[in-house]
Amino acid sequence: MINITQLAPFMQVLLCTLLLACGADAAAPYQLLKPPLDTPWTDQVGTNPWPQYPRPQLRRDVWKSLNGIWSFQEAQEGDVTDPPALPLGQEVLIPSCIESGISGIQKMGVTHMWFGTNFTVPAGWADDDRRVMLNFEAVDYETKVYVNGAEVGTNRGGYHRFSLDITPNIVRDGANQLHVFVFDPTDDQSIPQGKQTKRLSHIFYTPCTGIWQTVWLESVSQDFIKSLDVAADMNGIVTVVAHSWNNENSPVQISIASPQGDVVASQQHLSDQPFTINVPSPMLWSPDSPTLYNITVTMGSDEVRSYTGFRTISTGVVNGIQRPQLNGEFVFMFGPLDQGYWPDGIYTPPTLDAMVYDLELIKRLGMNMVRKHIKIEPDLFYEACDRMGLLVMQDMPSMRVFHHSRPTDGEQSEFERQLDIMVNEHKSYPSIVTWVIYNEGWGQITDYYPEFALTDRVRQLDPSRLINSVTGWHDHGAGDYHDNHHYAEPQCGTPWSSLPNTPYDSKRIGLQGEFGGIGHRPADENLWPVPEAVRTINETYELHNTAGLESYHYRAHVLLQLLRDQVDQYACSGAVYTQTTDVEGEVNGLVTYDRRVVRVDEEQWKSDIRGLYDAAGARAGDGGGGGGEGSR
Ligand SMILES: *[C@@H]1O[C@H](CO)[C@@H](O)[C@H](O)[C@H]1NC(C)=O
Ligand SMILES: *[C@@H]1O[C@H](CO)[C@@H](O)[C@H](O)[C@H]1NC(C)=O
Ligand SMILES: *[C@@H]1O[C@H](CO)[C@@H](O)[C@H](O)[C@H]1NC(C)=O
Repeated sequence: MINITQLAPFMQVLLCTLLLACGADAAAPYQLLKPPLDTPWTDQVGTNPWPQYPRPQLRRDVWKSLNGIWSFQEAQEGDVTDPPALPLGQEVLIPSCIESGISGIQKMGVTHMWFGTNFTVPAGWADDDRRVMLNFEAVDYETKVYVNGAEVGTNRGGYHRFSLDITPNIVRDGANQLHVFVFDPTDDQSIPQGKQTKRLSHIFYTPCTGIWQTVWLESVSQDFIKSLDVAADMNGIVTVVAHSWNNENSPVQISIASPQGDVVASQQHLSDQPFTINVPSPMLWSPDSPTLYNITVTMGSDEVRSYTGFRTISTGVVNGIQRPQLNGEFVFMFGPLDQGYWPDGIYTPPTLDAMVYDLELIKRLGMNMVRKHIKIEPDLFYEACDRMGLLVMQDMPSMRVFHHSRPTDGEQSEFERQLDIMVNEHKSYPSIVTWVIYNEGWGQITDYYPEFALTDRVRQLDPSRLINSVTGWHDHGAGDYHDNHHYAEPQCGTPWSSLPNTPYDSKRIGLQGEFGGIGHRPADENLWPVPEAVRTINETYELHNTAGLESYHYRAHVLLQLLRDQVDQYACSGAVYTQTTDVEGEVNGLVTYDRRVVRVDEEQWKSDIRGLYDAAGARAGDGGGGGGEGSR
C-alpha cells in the first residue's frame, strides 16, 4: 500500500481528489484536556480562542484570524522538507503550547512536529494591486512554513512576530493548505527560553512548544506600511518612522487626534526616514492619567491606525539622589515580578480577560509598575498596560547554559539578534519604561563584560528608555540601575548589599529588582498538584507553615515597612515584589496559580504601598504629598 504521507503535497491532493480517501482519515477530535489545575477562564476558551485583533499599534480592517482547530502530529528532524497529508493525526487548538491542557495535546518532550490547517482567501483579497500576508504573532522556537506545499518562510525565536507574503502561493477560489514545521530545542541548545525547562525545578517551569500566539491573514495594498515606530515625549515632540514593505521613500501622511477625537497635528513626510511632529501642550501619559492619542498613517492606498502616549522617562539627581523620572519628576516604581504563566495555558493566557485580571489586581493594590520577567507577552498585554497606566520593566528572555560554561559565539549573537528584535518590536508602547538585558547571570558571559556593548546597542536602538543591564548578581557598573536581588528582606539603595561586586553605586538608580517571595501552601484545590512541583514547595523563601495566614500577613507588612524605611533613609528608587501569582511549586503569589484566591491582605497592602509612595514623595521634596501613584 502507498503511504500517502510520503508523497509530494500536490500528489497527495491529486490522490485525495481521485480516491476521495483522505477525508475518511479524520484526525482524532479536539478535546480540552483537564489540566492539573484550571482557572476561572479555562472553560471559556472554546474553539475560537483569542479572537481580538492582535496588533494594536498597526490596525487595518481587512483581516482574518486563523486561530481555532488545526491538526498536529509529531515528527522527526528530517521530515521538515516533506509536508504530510492533511489532516494530521490529532486535532489541536491554536494558539496554544502543546504542553497545555488547552492545546488538547498536553504532552512534554516533543521537539519536532507538524501543524496543519487549511484556509480560504476572501474574494478581492488577492486582486492585482493587493498582497495577502500570513502573520504569526509568536511560535516557539524554529518554524518553517509551507502554503500549498511550497516553502514560504522560516523564523527562529519564540517570542516575536513574523509576516510572510504568500500572494504567489495561494489559490484564490478554494482551500489552501498550510503546514507549519516546528523545532523546539529548549534545554538542548542555549537559546532565549526564559523560565521554560524540561528539567522541572522550583524556579523553572513547564516549557511551551509550538504556535502559542495568534495566526492571522491580512490583505494589504501592494505597497504598505510594514511597521511604525512612534515615540512621543512630554514636550509634545512625536518622532515617527513608517517602515514600508519594499517601497522606500514613499510619501506618508500622519495625523494625530486628541482623546476627544479632534485632529491636533498632521504632517507629510517620507517612509523609512525619521521625522518629527509637534503637538502643543499635550495631555501627558502617566500611571495616574494614562492618556492616549490615536494616530492615522496613510501611504498610497494603505491606511493604518495606531496610538501613542506623551511621556518622558529619564534619570536625574533629585535632592542629591540619582532617580528615575517620569515627565521630569521622580517616579518611585513599585510592582510585582510578573511571569505570565498559566496552569491551563502555560505561556498562552486562556483569554484576554484572564490576562487583564492579573493587571487589574496589580493596579487595585495601588502599584504603578510590573516587571515582565524573562518572557515577552502578546502585544495586547502592552496595550492593556498603556490603557490602564502601568509602567513596564521588560526583561529579555534569558538563555540558560547547560552544556558548556558560557554561550558559544553563535548562541551569543543569536541572543543579541533577538534582543534587537524585542526592542524594535515593542519600542512604541508608552508603558514600557525600561529594558532589562540580563537576569541573575543567566546566560551572562563574565570572562568579558558584554553587557556594556549591549547597553550601548540597546541605547542606540531606543534612546528614549532606561536600561537595566544586569538585574541581580554579576554587576560591573553598566546601565542606569544598580539593582540588587535579596530575599526575603529588601536591601534597596542601602549602603550594605549582598551584591559582591558593587555594594552600592550612588551614580546609578538604586533598585530592588527582586525581594519578598514569602509563601504559604494553598488549599489542595488551588495547588498545582504535579509531584515534581509539590516536592519543591519547601524551597520557598520563608514558607509560612501554618494553618492560617496571620504570620504571612505580618511578615509581608514587615517587608513593606523595611522597604519604606529604605526609601526614607537611603537611595531606594523602586522595587519588585516576588510575585504576581504562584507558579507551579512556587507558592508565593499575591494570588494563587489558578487566580482563585487572593493571598495578600488587600487593605494592608494598599496602605503599605501608599506609604511607600508617600515616603518617596517626601524624599523628592514635594512636601510629602505622596507622589500620587508614583507619577506626580
Ligand atoms: C480543511 O478544513 C476543514 C474545516 O476545518 C476540515 O473539515 C478538513 O478536514 C480540512 N481538510 C484538510 C485536507 O485538512
Ligand atoms: C482610538 O482608536 C481606538 C482603536 O482603533 C478606538 O476604539 C477609539 O474609539 C479611538 N478613540 C477616538 C477618540 O477616536
Ligand atoms: C524538601 O523536602 C525534600 C523531601 O520531600 C527533601 O529531600 C529536601 O531536602 C527538602 N528541601 C529543603 C530545602 O528543605
